Amino acid sequence: MLSEPATDLINKLPADCEIPRHIGIVMDGNGRWAEQRGLSRFDGHLEGRKTAQRVVEACASLGVEVLSLYAFSVQNWQRPTPEVEGLMDLIETALREELQALVANDVRFVASGRRQELPRSLQRILNEVEQETAGNQGLTLNLLVNYGGRTEIVDAARNIAEQVAAGDIFPADIDERLFANYLYTPDLPDPDLVIRPGGEMRVSNFLLWEIAYAELVVMPVLWPDFTTDHLIDAIKEYNTRERRFGRLPAGDD
Ligand code: IPE
Ligand code: IPE
Ligand code: MG
Repeated sequence: MLSEPATDLINKLPADCEIPRHIGIVMDGNGRWAEQRGLSRFDGHLEGRKTAQRVVEACASLGVEVLSLYAFSVQNWQRPTPEVEGLMDLIETALREELQALVANDVRFVASGRRQELPRSLQRILNEVEQETAGNQGLTLNLLVNYGGRTEIVDAARNIAEQVAAGDIFPADIDERLFANYLYTPDLPDPDLVIRPGGEMRVSNFLLWEIAYAELVVMPVLWPDFTTDHLIDAIKEYNTRERRFGRLPAGDD
């Protein structure tokens, strides 16, 4: 499955380079890529799927712990029905076709989002791929489908409220740690690096709680044109950042 030997890719990074534990990607720009070529938006999504495969392989070989890929937002239902249906079919087909490769590459797959609102056949394959890869030890691939950051926070709040109403939690027990335990993937570390290809300087409802202190790298390249070299560049850029988490710069405290 690996398109580029792992050693070649890692050699493009300085030896002292820190690999982010968790990388999040807002996979944007498929539509513009297609329109520039006189193709349908769906052709852009097909090409974007190939990029996603390349990036999963690259992250697995670099030793990234978690890769979160934003595939379909709760707002994306507002697009024309043919595009929405095309995307649902594409995600389902991609998962079916990639399952064996994910297993072979020791990738653990998880899906985040309101999956009960997705087509039944897509729900089934999401569950199946999660189950088939649950014991894998390599990269965790977190696929965001019918995902919204605000929706995730609202869902957590509702679940906590139900526990409070049942008398299982006291309001005074609610703190950031407890709240985070009710998010979709409480076992994953927060993203360190968020990459947004397509040039838009916004987060578009992506992992709102979890990216509180993530480093953002916006790149003009459209997602279908995104290569492993762009990934390497984003990791290098991440390494130039000083993460302060509200503290003073290193050496000043
Ligand atoms: C793909 O890019 C992301 C999805 C919402 C599936 P877009 O379809 O948003 O592409 P642009 O932004 O119109 O170019
Ligand atoms: C964000 O891209 C959602 C995904 C990549 C799935 P959008 O294209 O939907 O975001 P906006 O509309 O530019 O904010
Ligand atoms: Mg877009």
